[in-house]
Amino acid sequence: MNVAVIGSGYVGLVSGTCFAEMGNKVTCVDIDQKKIQKLEEGIIPIFEPGLEQMVLKNVKNKNLFFTTNLGNAISDAEIVFIAVGTPMGDDGSADLQYVLAVAKSIGETMNKRLIVVDKSTVPIGTADKVKATIQAELDKRNENIEFSVVSNPEFLKEGAAIGDFMKPDRVVVGADSEYAVSKMKELYHPFCMSHDRFISMDIRSAEMTKYAANTMLATKISFMNEIANICERVGADANMVRIGIGSDKRIGYSFIYPGAGYGGSCFPKDVKALKKIAEENGYKANLIESVENVNDAQKLVIANKIVKRFGEDLSGMTFGLWGLAFKPGTDDMREAPAIYIVKELEKRGAKVKAYDPKAIEESKEFYLKDAKNITYCTSKYEVLQNADALILLTEWKEFRSPDFVEIKQQLKTPIIFDGRNQYNAFNLEEKGFEYFQIGK
Ligand code: UDX
Repeated sequence: MNVAVIGSGYVGLVSGTCFAEMGNKVTCVDIDQKKIQKLEEGIIPIFEPGLEQMVLKNVKNKNLFFTTNLGNAISDAEIVFIAVGTPMGDDGSADLQYVLAVAKSIGETMNKRLIVVDKSTVPIGTADKVKATIQAELDKRNENIEFSVVSNPEFLKEGAAIGDFMKPDRVVVGADSEYAVSKMKELYHPFCMSHDRFISMDIRSAEMTKYAANTMLATKISFMNEIANICERVGADANMVRIGIGSDKRIGYSFIYPGAGYGGSCFPKDVKALKKIAEENGYKANLIESVENVNDAQKLVIANKIVKRFGEDLSGMTFGLWGLAFKPGTDDMREAPAIYIVKELEKRGAKVKAYDPKAIEESKEFYLKDAKNITYCTSKYEVLQNADALILLTEWKEFRSPDFVEIKQQLKTPIIFDGRNQYNAFNLEEKGFEYFQIGK
């Protein structure tokens, strides 16, 4: 099949490349000329395991193309995906200007029957707006071309996106025509071979499915973080409680790890947007609002433990930080707890020495570019030299089993604040560490 993907960011690039991998002819479009030029040279703008090799292979096999020209890209396409960003607006709702600008360009340039797919996470009712925008352009041109707008939300986890796309738990398609459903089924057939993972429904339910999935997962995390906070106060161990409740199949083990709060591009944005959508439709979503409030507070739980241990004034102190990315396997720092912790420590006069296997450049260039008291190190042990304590915020594999003798030698005082409950408290205490974790 001939497919165009508009927006060569995280979602667009992964989706386009995976469609190409299955033998489709895919053209990825972006308005950023530099990005397209780099992609043509085989330079991938994001870190995602397995993506680079797959892009290079499919470019070489002439299944995957890059261009800035939307008109050319859709002229041969049967299906066009809109995968541009929907950043959070000032009021918490998703900003649709990029999605609708693409819809307008599609209406201006399409020349034959087309299926237009919303891949970006968009508020309920957006497909109708996309449809109206395209139709208005066709009317201006006096063209009568048939098209359908389809909602096909993505469920990709950063760091595991290729696997999630190639072997999806489900493919959700919201459509209002049989033709569109059958074409989408054909496109996704190679990804759903082992059993039928294709779920078709009406457009608004598909749009809502994405928000409901992400908010459900965020709710599990905030719930567990709240349980952990109570555990700390009553002398229980949240890790044991996690195992205790996870063994109930109805609850399950996944997404109940207490930690320093959820971050990333999806959960914070989608939880806020769903709260806003509810509000705009006359419903006050109390639970969703609490999920967000618990998470905002949770991002500072480690800072609070530090203050409790060392006092309000941290001037003259240095903290070694392991992990900047919002989770392992990515260089993404959007809404990462590290941003909040570093700012809080800096506000209290402390210095931070940080190490992350992938996210240091992101931190320097964007997320902590204004932080003055942070220095970056090239190894995990280097951050410990003359530091008063170690803080762990991202559970990268290389932090799982470190050399505690070395850590103890480097640190001024053997104290670890662990935002991801990576170590065995008993072992660490035996080794002479003061060990602070979440929920114990
Ligand atoms: C998420 C969804 O998983 C994906 O389906 C959706 O399409 C996009 O958003 P992602 O943001 O890449 O994906 O990360 P995910 O692996 O889901 O983790 C989200 C955050 O939750 C991370 O900050 C992680 O540290 C935190 N988390 C996760 C916990 O604190 N505890 C848990 O038990 C699980």
